[in-house]
Amino acid sequence: MSSFIGEYVHLLRLALEGRPQEVVALARKNLRSLMKANPESAEAIKKLLSQYEEKSGIAVRDAKQQPVPIDVDSKLELLRRESIVFDQEPVWPETVNRELISVIEERKHENELMEMGLAPTRSILFVGPPGVGKTLAARWLSSHLERQLLTLDLAAVMSSFLGKTGNNIRAVLNYAQKTPSVLLLDEFDAIAKRRNDDSEVGELKRLVTVLLQAIDDWPANGVLIAATNHPDLLDPAVWRRFERVVRFPHPSSNEINTTIKSLMADLTKQGETLVEVLSTVLEGNSYAEVVRQINSIRRESVVQKKPLEIMMEELLARLILNAEREQKLAIAMKLLDTGLSQRRVSDITGVSRDTLRKYLSRKN
Ligand SMILES: Nc1ncnc2c1ncn2[C@@H]1O[C@H](COP(=O)(O)OP(=O)(O)OP(=O)(O)O)[C@@H](O)[C@H]1O
Ligand SMILES: [Mg+2]
Repeated sequence: MSSFIGEYVHLLRLALEGRPQEVVALARKNLRSLMKANPESAEAIKKLLSQYEEKSGIAVRDAKQQPVPIDVDSKLELLRRESIVFDQEPVWPETVNRELISVIEERKHENELMEMGLAPTRSILFVGPPGVGKTLAARWLSSHLERQLLTLDLAAVMSSFLGKTGNNIRAVLNYAQKTPSVLLLDEFDAIAKRRNDDSEVGELKRLVTVLLQAIDDWPANGVLIAATNHPDLLDPAVWRRFERVVRFPHPSSNEINTTIKSLMADLTKQGETLVEVLSTVLEGNSYAEVVRQINSIRRESVVQKKPLEIMMEELLARLILNAEREQKLAIAMKLLDTGLSQRRVSDITGVSRDTLRKYLSRKN
């Protein structure tokens, strides 16, 4: 009963705010269960909805049946559409994890929120340097929310004639708003530049206004995510629009450690310690860079038929080639702890065996 009242309140609010598409979507969502409980009313509602849709030309059905909007000239699809299943869960930094989980939890408690006159988060801004998992997080969210992911690469559409760009973006927003989905506007800064940018006036201004309006009015059954690695290019008016801002930091050495281990099966004890050392050395890099380095030595290991441990040692040697002497020494001490010989440690780090012995005797 209480969830019924919650939905009723929500429905009223949508109607009063003049959001008929969402009213229709909500009514359709409940139609199946109503069909069992009260077939007569369900039929009446179905008829009402069909009449409305016919009259208004608005159809709020399963968008899988609707063709994705295309660019008029190139005939290429404007959106990438994917349904994603993860076989391996990514490692999220704690702050990111908290935000992502709470978006999912809100959806699970949608009815309770509605009862309080609230709605789950609909618009999210992902901010962070390249390769820290913004796109991955959008994919992950869509998979956990069991929605298809629609991706619009704004940098790609912006390159064409601005008037046409505007039409394309409008078509995409329109399509996504009618679809229970997660829409990812990637490279968001490509369009949401400062509105006082005087090189592109008029059309660009209109475009930004359309986008801001879309963020404001995003339907409750969808999620809009915008991703940028140039947050400084965004107008404060744009920031304010988003209900949630998630900042993606570079991974910590612990997160790097877990990521590397997830890429390597059957590590020896020594291998594990090497991963630990590598993780501290790789700190400050993006996930993308870490994954790139590790996959590269995994390939080398197969091609050259050498154990992964050797490849890790060689990678380590390359990474610390130009490091400060102090850091080289610290790494050398950790490597000695893994059981590597003094000669090998000296080869990897460039610290002489004499120096190693001196430090070892001081330590003991
Ligand atoms: N949390 C994570 N755990 C494990 N791997 C990750 C994680 N985040 C990113 N990666 C790795 O880094 C790659 C790049 O990530 P992604 O494309 O999501 O970065 P991005 O933040 O969108 O970068 P850009 O700003 O360049 O678009 C992924 O394909 C994945 O291999
Ligand atoms: Mg990306």
